[in-house]
Amino acid sequence: MSTITEEISRRRTFAIISHPDAGKTTLTEKLLLFGGAIHIAGAVKSNKIKKTATSDWMEIEKQRGISVATSVMGFNYGDYKINILDTPGHQDFAEDTYRTLTAVDSVIIVVDVAKGVEQQTRKLMEVCRMRNTPVIIFVNKLDREGRDPFEILDELEAELKIAVRPLSWPINIGAKFKGVYNIYEHSLDLFTPDKQKATSRVEIDDVNDSRVDEAVGEDDAAKLREDLELIEGVYPEFDVEPYLQGKLAPVFFGSALNTFGVKELLDCFVKIAPAPGPVQTAEREVRPEEENFSGFVFKIHANMDPNHRSCIAFVKVCSGKFERNANYKQVRTGKSMRFASPTAFMAQKKSIVDEAYPGDIVGIPDTGNFKIGDTLTSGEEIHFKGLPSFSPEMFMYIENTDPMKSKQLEKGIQQLMDEGVAQLFFHQFNGRKVIGTVGQLQFEVIQYRLLHEYGAQCRWEPMSMYKACWIESDDPDALANFKKRKHQFMALDRDGRDVFLADSAFVLQMAQNDFPKIRFHFSTDSLSE
Ligand code: G4P
Repeated sequence: MSTITEEISRRRTFAIISHPDAGKTTLTEKLLLFGGAIHIAGAVKSNKIKKTATSDWMEIEKQRGISVATSVMGFNYGDYKINILDTPGHQDFAEDTYRTLTAVDSVIIVVDVAKGVEQQTRKLMEVCRMRNTPVIIFVNKLDREGRDPFEILDELEAELKIAVRPLSWPINIGAKFKGVYNIYEHSLDLFTPDKQKATSRVEIDDVNDSRVDEAVGEDDAAKLREDLELIEGVYPEFDVEPYLQGKLAPVFFGSALNTFGVKELLDCFVKIAPAPGPVQTAEREVRPEEENFSGFVFKIHANMDPNHRSCIAFVKVCSGKFERNANYKQVRTGKSMRFASPTAFMAQKKSIVDEAYPGDIVGIPDTGNFKIGDTLTSGEEIHFKGLPSFSPEMFMYIENTDPMKSKQLEKGIQQLMDEGVAQLFFHQFNGRKVIGTVGQLQFEVIQYRLLHEYGAQCRWEPMSMYKACWIESDDPDALANFKKRKHQFMALDRDGRDVFLADSAFVLQMAQNDFPKIRFHFSTDSLSE
C-alpha cells in the first residue's frame, strides 16, 4: 500500500498548449504512445477540432462532445502517474483553456519552428505568467524548414516574456536535420523518421567524443560543438528552481510527427515538473497531503443531446483522498452529496473510480448542482480561489424575442453562465443584459442551446465595445467619481462587481491615465478580496 505522500509525489498533472496546428494533438498522442495508453498513432484525432469547421459550430460541439473522453488523459509512465488535461484546439473556446490552466501544475507549450510564437500561444502564456505556472517549451517540426534555433530562442524570450534555457539542440533542420543533442542527459539522438517508434540514441559523456563525428559528419559535429559553446556562454546552467517558480522555461527541439525528441522531453518532464502543490483558498492554504478531501470544479461539460440534459463536472482533487460513495459537502449550496459513479480517465478509457488522489481529475455526473469554481470538501467551509473570469473580447446585448418564455430564457442564461460558456453583465446605464465571450462562435452556441434545451428564443444586438475590465480602488471617493464620470459605460457582473466597458483601446488607455487611483483588472484573479 502506498502512502498518500507517495501517490502525490508521483503525479504530474499538466496541459499542452499551442496555437492551432503547431502540433499539440500529435505531441499528446506520442506521449500516450510512450505511456502505453494507446498502441498506434492516429488514435487521438477526436480531440482535434478541424479548422475547416470554423463556421459549423454544431460540428465543433459534436467534436467537443466526443472530446469528453479525451478531456483528461491519465496513464502511468514508469513510476509516474501522468494526467494530461486536454484543451480545445479552437480559439473561440479559449476561455475553456484558460480555466483548464487553473487545474494544472505545469504546462508544455508547443511552438512551430517555422512560425515561431503565434497569437494564441502569447495569450495562453499570459495566463501561465499570471499564475507562475512552470512551463517547458517544445519547438516542433524540426524535420521541416524553419528558423534558426538561436533566433527562435530569442523570440521565445521576447514574446513569451520568460527566460529560456535550451536542454536539447538540433543538428541542422529541415531536409538536412540529423538529430538532437540532449544537453540535459548528454546523449546524441539520431533522427530516423519514424511515426511509431522511438529513435536511436548514442550515449556520450562529452560532445567531443569522436562518435559524434562518425554519426553526423565532421562539419555538422563541428557546428554542434560551436553552438553548444555559445549556449554555455550565453545561458546560465539549467536550474530547476527558477523553472518551478515560472521564471525560466527549458526548451526542447524535435519533431512530434516523427516521435523525435519526444521521449527526451517526457523523461526530463517527469523528473523536473512539479507534483501537485499547495492551493490557496479564500480562508487558508490547502496542502495536498492533508487528510481531508477537498477539490474544485474547473470545467463543466454539457451533453449536447437534449434528451440527456446531464453534464459532467470535472473536479480537480486538491487534498486528501477522494472516495466513491463518501459524503462530501458542496460548499456553495451547503448540500451534502454522495457520488455513486464518479469517473476517471485512464489509458483512454473512462471508468468508475473508487478513489482518487491530489492531482487527479474526477468526472462527476451532474444535473445542475455545480457551477464553475465550486468547492467540494469533507465538510470544511473553504472556497478555492483562482478560477478567474477573464476580460471577454466580444459583446452583444441579449434580447428576448418570445415574451411568453422569459422565465425559460432567464433560467437558460443563468445555467449557461454557471457552466462558464460566457459572461453576463448588467449595463447600469440602459439596464440591458450584455453577454461577453472570447469568440464569435459562443453567440451561436448560446442561441442554439437556449432554444433547444430551454425552449427560449433570443436575438443578438451588436454593440461596439473593446474590453470589459473590473475596476477597484482603495479610495472610495475616487471610485465614486470614476463611476459618475463613466456612468454610461458602467456595468455589474453576476457577483455585483463593478465593470468598466471600454469601447476602444484608446478610451481604456485614457481612463487608465486620467484615473490613477483606479485599478483596472483584466481577470478577476488579481482583484482583492
Ligand atoms: P494541433 O493539435 O496543435 O492543432 O496540431 P496537430 O497535432 O493536429 O498538427 C497539425 C499538423 O502538423 C498536422 O498535419 C500534423 O501531422 C503536422 N505535424 C505535427 N507535428 C509535426 C512534425 O513534427 N513535423 C511535420 N512535418 N508535421 C507535423 P495536417 O496535415 O494538418 O493533419 P493530418 O492530416 O496529418 O492529421
